[in-house]
Amino acid sequence: MKINSAQFKISNSEVEKCPKESKHEYAFIGRSNVGKSSLINMLTGRKGLAMTSSTPGKTMLINHFLINNEWYIVDLPGYGYARRDKESRSKLQTIIQNYILNRCELTNLFVLVDSRHEPQKIDMEFFEWLGENGVPFSIVFTKIDKIGKEVLKKNIDDYCNKLLEQWEELPPIFMTSSEDGRGREELLDYIEELNKLPLPEDKN
Ligand code: GTP
Ligand code: MG
Repeated sequence: MKINSAQFKISNSEVEKCPKESKHEYAFIGRSNVGKSSLINMLTGRKGLAMTSSTPGKTMLINHFLINNEWYIVDLPGYGYARRDKESRSKLQTIIQNYILNRCELTNLFVLVDSRHEPQKIDMEFFEWLGENGVPFSIVFTKIDKIGKEVLKKNIDDYCNKLLEQWEELPPIFMTSSEDGRGREELLDYIEELNKLPLPEDKN
């Protein structure tokens, strides 16, 4: 898919205030610093569109970006940032959960995990929560430029085996680098296919 336009629309903390246009929407989530905002910039080919930082905890709100005037990308805050105080962590968790459970336009949630690390408990618990709530998701392995091909393959195999202990089937899986652009085509093609389907049923 070709990206002709990408515009920032709105940031907010409440799902009720998200755009009301009934367009397909794809949100990006994962642990703090995993590379969500960078991936959004890479996919859209707009370097400064989503704000990135080497310090974890940069994204604090639900951020909507309108793509090709047709569909939305949503940048979400990361979860599990240990250095935030308990109160702001639970506030962020509420924002994220309300959004995921109540946003009927949410067509697919891309859950990002760092390809260098072994499966983390917090991610496994998050997948389980998504499963319990019937949220459609895919897994995106990020930062693949930081490791060699062999290690990458081993890490992904190990990850999939761990998932298969809990799931009968694997979700769609993508491998990306925001540095060199790998995975861009595959991810955008997947979104293009999903855009052809009817919007998810109203959840309310
Ligand atoms: P929060 O909003 O804080 O939760 O973080 P985030 O998940 O949005 O991460 P962000 O995109 O801000 O990236 C975090 C850091 O990782 C930045 O220093 C990025 O430059 C770096 N980074 C992200 N993706 C990649 C990648 O694919 N390759 C490499 N080498 N670095 C990356
Ligand atoms: Mg971010």
